[in-house]
Order: sequence, then C-alpha cells, then structure tokens
Amino acid sequence: MLIYSQAISEIIGWRFSCRNYNPRPIGPRLRDQLSDVLTVSSKGPLGTRVRFDLVSAGENDLTALRGLGTYGFIKGARGFIIGAVDRGEKDMEDYGYLLERAVLFATDIGLGTCWLGGSFSKSSFSRKISLKKTEILPAVVAVGYVADKRRWFDSIIRWSVGSDSRLPWTKLFFDGTFGTALSVDTCGQFATPLEMVRLGPSASNKQPWRVIRDGTQWHFYLQRTSGYGERNRALFKMADIQRIDMGIAMCHFELTLREMDLSGEWVLAEPAMEKPDKLTEYIVTWQQK
Ligand SMILES: Cc1cc2nc3c(=O)[nH]c(=O)nc-3n(C[C@H](O)[C@H](O)[C@H](O)COP(=O)(O)O)c2cc1C
Repeated sequence: MLIYSQAISEIIGWRFSCRNYNPRPIGPRLRDQLSDVLTVSSKGPLGTRVRFDLVSAGENDLTALRGLGTYGFIKGARGFIIGAVDRGEKDMEDYGYLLERAVLFATDIGLGTCWLGGSFSKSSFSRKISLKKTEILPAVVAVGYVADKRRWFDSIIRWSVGSDSRLPWTKLFFDGTFGTALSVDTCGQFATPLEMVRLGPSASNKQPWRVIRDGTQWHFYLQRTSGYGERNRALFKMADIQRIDMGIAMCHFELTLREMDLSGEWVLAEPAMEKPDKLTEYIVTWQQK
C-alpha cells in the first residue's frame, strides 16, 4: 500500500497532463522516492506482473534520455516512467492501475506528469527497458517539474480533445441497469470515489468508463469509442489503450475508498445484465465487504 502525504481526492484534482516542463533534472531525493514506488509496484490487482523503470537525466547530462522521442508532444521532460507488462487477459487494466498509482505519487511530491499511449517512439523506449517477447510496453509517462507557462501547442491539444471537461454523471454511472442513471444523492459514501473516477485521465479524453451499482457490487464496463481502437492499432500499432483507462479508473476508485476506510476487493463476476450495445464490455467488479 502506497503512502500519500495529501488526501487522494486533492491529488487527483491537481493532476493534469503536463506537456511543457522546466528542463531542470529531477532532484535525487524525489527521483529515489519515485523509483522506490515503482519497485514495489510489481503485480496488478488482477494478477498481471509489471516492471517499471524511471529513466531520468542527470545534472548537465541528457545521455539517459537519448533517442526517447515524443514527436514534439512533450517539451523539456527530464524523466520518463517506462513499463513492461506480461501479456495476459487483464494486462492493460493492471498496467493502467499500477502506473496511475505512481502518477498520483509523482503528483503528490510536486511533479508534473503526462500519460503517452501514442506520442512516443516505441522502439527506443522498448530498447531502454529491454522488452521481452512475452511483454508489452503499452504506454509511458513523462515526468518532471512543471514549467511556468503552457505552450500554444499544449492549449491546442487540450482544446482538440476537450481535456478540460468531463461527461456528466448521468452518462457514466447507473443504478441496477444501464437505462437508469445513478443519482449522487442515493449513493452515500460512494459519491466521492465515483467522482474521482470521473475526473481521471483517459486516452484522447474519451472517458470510456461506465459503472453500475448492483447491491453491494459495483460493475465496471468499458464503452469503447467506435473505430478508435482499430484505427490506433492499424495506423500507430498502439496497444488496447482504452483498457488502460479502465485500470486508471479502478485505481482512483479503490484509493479513494481505502482512504475512507471502506473495504472491498476486485473480482471477476460478470452479471447477467443487458448491455446497451456491442461496444460495451464487462471489465471487473468491486465487491464491498
Ligand atoms: C492511456 C492514456 C494515453 C494517453 N496518450 C496520450 C498521448 O499519446 N499524447 C498526449 O499528448 N496525451 C495523451 N494522454 C493524455 C490525455 O489526452 C489526457 O489525459 C486527457 O485529455 C485529459 O486531460 P488531463 O489529463 O489534463 O485531465 C493519454 C492519456 C491516457 C490515460
């Protein structure tokens, strides 16, 4: 269990995709703290093994970052978190969960971060972590000190994917069936954990998470964006990154619940429930205890 120094809901509120960094190398104390967190993050909640590496520049020495390109999306970052996950049924969810835990830790200690599922040179990052045939490198995270100013380019990206807005509750959270919206007033202590799911980052800000309350169970579904995965796979050889978004949602939900001393566990228990369309698939269930 990671220890955060500030309330998790505050940390989640502060996190944003930082694409412009102050080029100062990450100080040794923060680097060691983040590396330690990455070392303990070796198995996801659904059982997949993941290994992470923090690659960072030294004082006046950028050698460690040589070749790690981001196609201009990221400026000045002096560190990257690179991960390799064993191939498996829930590999992307576990990867998203563990890496987001580290992202929130980095945010807690004052660093900026940005998830990169497409805008990174896959081959050089893969070489850096000595990727094995049995593993996948689905995404990396840029990390460093936040620059004082946002670039024009960053504002354009944020605008083009609508980064500053999130879907309303009525589109994301349901009561018993997909047709019935879950009201904030009736979900008691679960209102904050769900709100933390809603505030999470997602690839192209598509927000594919859907959650259904079913007694003491909370079923998490992925509502895929039509054509998105196929296009990304074909054009950019990208992993199934919308399942990473689901892992991020699981992380926000669980960390918030644990901080509120509400216990439970992740189980695979797909209910016999009608799904709204073919794009919607069951992922996982939080079973309250
Ligand atoms: C799995 C994943 C992959 C992402 N890939 C990229 C990327 O390749 N390039 C990029 O600029 N942003 C990327 N993002 C950042 C999203 O665009 C961003 O999270 C979203 O627009 C919401 O903005 P916010 O993070 O500032 O809240 C990615 C986010 C996630 C969760």
